[in-house]
Amino acid sequence: MIKNALITGVTGQDGAYLAKLLLEKGYRVSGLVARRSSDTRWRLRELGIESELTYLDGDLADASSIQRAVIKAKPDEVYNLGAQSFVGSSWDQPITTGIVDGLGVTHLLEAIRQFSPHTRFYQASTSEMFGLIQAERQDENTPFYPRSPYGVAKLYGHWITVNYRESFGLHASSGILFNHESPLRGIEFVTRKVTDAVARIKLGKQRELRLGNIDAKRDWGFAGDYVEAMWLMLQQQKPDDYVVATGVTTTVREMCRIAFEHVELNYQDHVIIDPAFFRPAEVDVLLGNPGKAERVLGWSPKTSLESLIHMMLDADLRRVAKE
Ligand code: NAP
Ligand code: GDD
Repeated sequence: MIKNALITGVTGQDGAYLAKLLLEKGYRVSGLVARRSSDTRWRLRELGIESELTYLDGDLADASSIQRAVIKAKPDEVYNLGAQSFVGSSWDQPITTGIVDGLGVTHLLEAIRQFSPHTRFYQASTSEMFGLIQAERQDENTPFYPRSPYGVAKLYGHWITVNYRESFGLHASSGILFNHESPLRGIEFVTRKVTDAVARIKLGKQRELRLGNIDAKRDWGFAGDYVEAMWLMLQQQKPDDYVVATGVTTTVREMCRIAFEHVELNYQDHVIIDPAFFRPAEVDVLLGNPGKAERVLGWSPKTSLESLIHMMLDADLRRVAKE
């Protein structure tokens, strides 16, 4: 039996990797695509899968479009990856972020509840919900303390997923994923901002890199590894919530050092601290404990931060050289 999957956020970093994984597993994949004035499918082209998907027009803020997408796709599994996902922008667009990242989840859960209650549901929850951390290593039992409108909206999305699971018996799971990166990462996120800038500096197209709080620490993994965990969650008999992380935390400063050293440069010669990139409230440190995902799902991260940064930087060097 061929399974049908519907992915929201299919044009994003995780959506592209997940679509590729599901196609490889023999799924028929539909992707929800919000109307934009310019092309957003470059990641799907980059992975060579653009023509293998069915595209459904829809926006998480528009409940009727979400209902139509669920009815049309007849999904066995829905992966809700669509979001305004940049923490920094969430202070500038708090209402959009709240509607899309928070209420948007209810739009999908309601459509599933009413039209397709057998459908299994994955919610893209986030380590940003831990915010001002309440335990040194965060796991599924660590209390939440979000520090941004993004974190607050995602916390709503997380709890409404738990609530629909408990209220209506939906097979609804949340992956509490820590930061994950790749060559397909948006340029505004710090790892990709750094690898792109290092490539430009190395190739003589840029001189300096302006950053904010480089003492912040993140638990960074590879997006290609993390989408496997999403799929595994929906293959379990029982829905549940899982932390997905590497269990290692590193400063932005150290990540910069790794990237600059890869091309024999010293980050201290190029990085400038710019108050414009500091946030109104910071998440100083995130460090996940993926023990439950390892035990129950048999999942573990395969890619070290060093090889991840090298992979991203090599891709940026090739791209910038062609510009
Ligand atoms: P991303 O690259 O920013 O992709 C976000 C996707 O959401 C894009 O396809 C975007 O479409 C879509 N989208 C935005 N607004 C929408 C709307 N109103 N209706 C429908 N779709 C909309 O994010 P990502 O890194 O792949 O992350 C995937 C999900 O995981 C997000 O929910 C994110 O919050 C969450 N998450 C990410 C991480 C991480 O480290 N990457 C960690 C934890 C959780 P356009 O292309 O048209 O903009
Ligand atoms: N983006 C950015 N740009 N971040 C910077 C900069 C800069 O110039 N300088 C320092 N940082 C710091 C941020 O203050 C933050 O502490 C850290 O680098 C990581 O920032 P991002 O890469 O923007 O990611 P994030 O941790 O805020 O959010 C990402 O991870 C979350 C999971 O914890 C996003 O992918 C979210 O969608 C995701 O939920």
